Amino acid sequence: MAELQIGQNQPPTHHGGLENLDAEYSYWIEDYEGLIPHDLQGTFFRNGPGRQKIGGNPYGHWFDGDGMVCAFTFKEGKVHFKNAYVRTPKYLQETAEQTIKYRGFGTQVPGGFLSNVGKMPANPANTNIMYHAGKLFALNEGGHPWEVSPTNLNTVGEYDFDGDLARSQVFSAHGRIHQATGDYINFGAGVSGMTLKGPQACLNLYRINPAGKMVNQTQVPLDNFPFCHDFAITDKHALFFIGSIVFGGMGSVMLGLKTISDGIVYNPKINMQILAVDLDTFTVSRTFDTNEHGSLIHFGNAFQRGEEIIVDGMFQTGFAANSTLVDVFNPESRFSGGYYNRYFLNMTNGQMRTERVNDVESEFPTFNTKLTGQESSVCYTACSVDNGANGFFNAIQRVDFDGHCDLLTLPPGHYGSEPLFAPATGATKEDDGYLLEVVYNAYSHKSELLVLRADNIHDVICKLPLNHHLPHQFHGHFTPEVFC
Ligand SMILES: [Fe+2]
Repeated sequence: MAELQIGQNQPPTHHGGLENLDAEYSYWIEDYEGLIPHDLQGTFFRNGPGRQKIGGNPYGHWFDGDGMVCAFTFKEGKVHFKNAYVRTPKYLQETAEQTIKYRGFGTQVPGGFLSNVGKMPANPANTNIMYHAGKLFALNEGGHPWEVSPTNLNTVGEYDFDGDLARSQVFSAHGRIHQATGDYINFGAGVSGMTLKGPQACLNLYRINPAGKMVNQTQVPLDNFPFCHDFAITDKHALFFIGSIVFGGMGSVMLGLKTISDGIVYNPKINMQILAVDLDTFTVSRTFDTNEHGSLIHFGNAFQRGEEIIVDGMFQTGFAANSTLVDVFNPESRFSGGYYNRYFLNMTNGQMRTERVNDVESEFPTFNTKLTGQESSVCYTACSVDNGANGFFNAIQRVDFDGHCDLLTLPPGHYGSEPLFAPATGATKEDDGYLLEVVYNAYSHKSELLVLRADNIHDVICKLPLNHHLPHQFHGHFTPEVFC
């Protein structure tokens, strides 16, 4: 790992955490520090690219690594770990042939445009993981869900909700569970038809009931093709932020000349627009035209208070992060995140205002999802701070609704991830539970799971070391169901 050092006196960078984990494991974690709480029962699933190279050749974008699901199962004071790749056609064929065989978001098949013309990017099932209606789905916004067994992580297969999700429809990695009904709300970028100007962009909206049946879907037309990755919901509305990062040059993509990542542009002439969509009718209730350019990649919670909808999200101007994601092994690359904004949207008079909650560079906001769409007061994010080492995520913060920030900075050479809230058994208040944080130790090239008190993130309850590293992942999901 010597090549990963950026200087003799510098801590090692996060790049070792992008090396492949080709092996699949299943074991009880034995030599841990602290006490595993007995009021933490359930399964913490995570998903992310498990490999960034095949046959020694790196993929052309962090988003193109094959999805590897892992699970930490908390059971009666013990923790079991397992991991497995999602057996997509891309994973199977590339594993067998040890070379790049599929296009990706930012990856071309070797051989020039003739090897890529007319080919759609593969779905690597690598972004998020969701357990709903008794099924566990590995999700990527470029395709359909992939069903995985929650018990042993074996791949069941691609899923289309009994045919209700058409072959041409994609399904975002960021759905939300509507707490009053238990319905799962999701969306996907799409094309609703042709106009004189060309294809008409739209958002496909989906609603799946607690039995797993898709009970509603519709299309909301858009003016352009935005990079729309996440959204937020209240009890009554879905909030979509149509931002300044847009897809362009799709003709060149189809001809095999460019990748989708090449075609993404940040256009400061496009001001951000916010759509409030009624969850019952799937029609747009209000549109808010902001007077600033920018985009939000990930959202915290949203809820309605009086006439106003309040939405939290990570705001950024520009999309410099994409060049970092294209060249993940470049030791000079530094991850750049967004900043925590809060939006107040008046549903009666259409006025809006924005507040900057704090100035800590951060991403991956999470909260107690039992309060999705309802008034909540605590949010957690992964942060990038100056701790004397290379950037990437090296801290987490707990932010109160009043903006009070409690920051936990990791030691130099240690790199974090999306912190996820898991409620204590029988919890009665919002932050009664634990924060689960996977940390990559670049000195030892191994990872561990930290369990922190959610109401005091400086209180480390236990450290659960793995026997190996866990490649940096994107998102996770906690269910109180014990799968082991
Ligand atoms: Fe995401």
